[in-house]
Amino acid sequence: MKQFFKTIFTLSLLIIPLSLFAVETSSTLPERLKTRALAVLNDDCANCHGLYRMGGLGPALTPEKLRQLPLETIALIIQEGIPGKFMPPWKAVLSRQEIDFLAQYIKSTPATPPQIKRIQIRKVGIKP
Ligand code: HEC
Repeated sequence: MKQFFKTIFTLSLLIIPLSLFAVETSSTLPERLKTRALAVLNDDCANCHGLYRMGGLGPALTPEKLRQLPLETIALIIQEGIPGKFMPPWKAVLSRQEIDFLAQYIKSTPATPPQIKRIQIRKVGIKP
């Protein structure tokens, strides 16, 4: 019986660190860094790719437009930019994890303009 508990104890010593490792590797980007990456998207990328990613100087960054581009290629473009074009590299601003998150985000999240109600438009004084 003593041996049995000893075995259980030894096993638990092994399993607990392993399960912690599993949580660690499958963890996603912390909320704080997601917010930071999205702020860069809305403040910086938006300058060229348009407000709501609908396109401007650069092409639209919507799931339909990016369907042909593999996730890894999108991440690489964001990281290194496109030499000789107006797309700058972002590796000095964004970590690789943030870049991966942004690549995933623009590839999978539809760009939806905010729904502004007439009452809100009236409030700021623009006639409907
Ligand atoms: C100074 C303007 C500028 C800024 C800022 C900018 N881009 Fe770009 N981006 C471009 C241009 C222009 C292209 C197209 C280059 C070409 O002709 O191939 C492009 C291309 C891309 C592409 C490839 C799209 C495709 O369909 O081939 C991705 C993805 C992209 N940008 C993501 C981003 C992200 C994410 C950010 C912000 C972190 C960003 N860009 C900021 C100008 C910009």
